[in-house]
Amino acid sequence: MPPRRFQLLIAFVLFLVLSMVFYGPPSSADLPTMEEVKEAVKNPQNHLPELPEFPDLPKIPFGPSAHKPQSSPNSTTTSSYRTLGWFQDFKWKKNPFSSAITLDENTAVLPPLDNRPFIYTYYDPPSKQDKAITEAENRLILAWRRAWWAQGFRPQVLSLVDAKTHPQYQLVQRMKLDTKAEADIFRWLAWGSMGSGILANWLALPMAEYDNAMLSFLRRNEYPILSRIDTLQNGIFFGEVAAVNAAIKKVVDGPLLKNVTANKDKITELGKKEGGAVVNLLSKDDIAVDSKANGIAYYSIETISKSYKLVAEKLTNATQAEGLGLLASLINAHLRLTFQQTFPEGMAILKPLPEHTTSLLTEAIEIGRNLTQCPTSPIPKSCPPNKSSCTVCDSNKPPKLQLLSSYKKSAKLFTIGTVPHPYTLNTLHYTRNTIDENFLRRSAERDLWITAATKDILKEGSAGDRVLRFKQIVATPYAASTSLWLTAERESQVDLDWIFGFALPQRASPTDKPDSPSEDSSLIIFPRPAAPEPLNGVKEPEEKWVKKEEYRITKARDALKSKDQRMTKVVDMVEKWNLADTEAWKFARAWSARRRVERLKWEQEEKKYAGAENKVGTWSD
Ligand SMILES: *[C@@H]1O[C@H](CO)[C@@H](O)[C@H](O)[C@H]1NC(C)=O
Ligand SMILES: *[C@@H]1O[C@H](CO)[C@@H](O)[C@H](O)[C@H]1NC(C)=O
Ligand SMILES: *[C@@H]1O[C@H](CO)[C@@H](O)[C@H](O)[C@H]1NC(C)=O
Ligand SMILES: *[C@@H]1O[C@H](CO)[C@@H](O)[C@H](O)[C@H]1NC(C)=O
Ligand SMILES: *[C@@H]1O[C@H](CO)[C@@H](O)[C@H](O)[C@H]1NC(C)=O
Repeated sequence: MPPRRFQLLIAFVLFLVLSMVFYGPPSSADLPTMEEVKEAVKNPQNHLPELPEFPDLPKIPFGPSAHKPQSSPNSTTTSSYRTLGWFQDFKWKKNPFSSAITLDENTAVLPPLDNRPFIYTYYDPPSKQDKAITEAENRLILAWRRAWWAQGFRPQVLSLVDAKTHPQYQLVQRMKLDTKAEADIFRWLAWGSMGSGILANWLALPMAEYDNAMLSFLRRNEYPILSRIDTLQNGIFFGEVAAVNAAIKKVVDGPLLKNVTANKDKITELGKKEGGAVVNLLSKDDIAVDSKANGIAYYSIETISKSYKLVAEKLTNATQAEGLGLLASLINAHLRLTFQQTFPEGMAILKPLPEHTTSLLTEAIEIGRNLTQCPTSPIPKSCPPNKSSCTVCDSNKPPKLQLLSSYKKSAKLFTIGTVPHPYTLNTLHYTRNTIDENFLRRSAERDLWITAATKDILKEGSAGDRVLRFKQIVATPYAASTSLWLTAERESQVDLDWIFGFALPQRASPTDKPDSPSEDSSLIIFPRPAAPEPLNGVKEPEEKWVKKEEYRITKARDALKSKDQRMTKVVDMVEKWNLADTEAWKFARAWSARRRVERLKWEQEEKKYAGAENKVGTWSD
């Protein structure tokens, strides 16, 4: 037997290895931040933040391990309306009611998270760059990250630090190539050190419907041959990591780089050609050229100077930062225009049981009006690159915004639904300030909301069938891209930018004509579309009744938050009486909570890098 200290050591190492095997490496998100630790050291009376059970491992700074994706499929998050939990299971479609699978009332069963393929971009600003320009570039990179995230990818911004981890870096760096060719090779080194996936320029953004052929192909995360896309120059490459590194090796060992001094001019020339230095240093057979380019818009310098002259002029002058700002607005406008054109029938706000639920929809109507507003843009009449025919938004005829009393299945219509807790819905629908057992048993119908909301897609069917259909609309990827589900008790919405992939307008023209936000601004803002017309045969309630509804919603929020035993008993009873409505509410809530947690975790991991939200500060369109 080895001595006791060694036994201890071996036990400890074994524990560490087992923890790693079962839980993966410790996540940076769960560790206290530097600030927290510093704060705790300064003020010892505030006790130290809790450390995780096992120690952090030494990490290669910025190396691939620092970027390792992680997942925590089962989770809970705090909420003012009781705990909110979910777990993921392929059985989510088998049984309409989560409690049959989880045996816990607060947990919803969600479909497993889709794997997001990695898309990398490379950003390496010159060291003495003006601060305003760096800020403007960060804003563009944020727009890039947001747009790809919304399309189901995992966008990651690489830098010189990532390139340095590649084994070939020293060799390339010693060659003293010209800046442009060198930067292009470094970009590939950074990609090669990360792994399989997509390498994109940060001015190449997805601009198409969710099921566009190119985007669907990229989302599948299988790239058998190293390829680039025709007409997008060096905008997009995709391939397996082995192929990427083989290509790098071929370039570095190639005849031209063997004697850089002799071939300087040739290399510089090749670096300027379409595709960049790496592509042109390779032979034609090394990188395939894919021709399906229509899902991606690339704002290359040539495209900007050809099609967006106003922006190009600002970019070439001393006003570069302003030009980059205008470019960000232009790109946001094109993303929004693409969204509007994906849904030619416009936006629908769901209003089942319309008589007394007007104030339930305040948030949904806000969002709908902002989505249908014409995009703020420096060049409102322009189309995205490579879309020669698009219909520009006309503020006299903005996209249609309508109320619907039941969900309508259409790929051309975007639906915004608001899911109420059955308690909230009952107080509103029956115009009662409180609910009690007697009332429930004598007069309340069961599962009012789900029955009304799905009556057009399911003429008949049990409440269970309806919940299943509802869940599929919320959660299957394609249907999910055509609808947004809010919960009525939530007072404001977050992360909309990341769900849509663009910023919603926060400013509108004060008149009914297009306007400019200020004298010296080159932007054009548009008037806000009116609220949608009331449903056929339903009178818009008077102001005082709407006020009453608002009061009832506030009361219902309090009731759901209440810890008072009598209250929780009533809420519990309402839930039992409306099993399907409760299930729909729980599902919608857990779905959006998980989406937010997934996003925040990602942001936490990326916060050191360019284009992180905390670097850009507040920016609104
Ligand atoms: C998630 O929870 C379910 C049910 O408790 C369990 O069967 C499954 O193994 C869990 N998954 C993980 C990764 O913890
Ligand atoms: C590189 O080329 C130059 C000019 O042709 C030549 O003088 C030099 O010897 C070459 N160097 C090597 C290492 O081959
Ligand atoms: C910016 O560039 C345009 C055209 O290139 C030129 O007409 C204009 O005078 C320039 N403005 C400044 C401030 O340099
Ligand atoms: C897309 O851009 C390329 C290169 O700029 C051009 O050759 C092609 O005609 C464009 N396609 C459309 C539909 O505008
Ligand atoms: C919608 O636009 C208005 C101003 O036009 C703004 O105050 C509001 O915050 C916007 N709402 C959302 C959800 O973006």
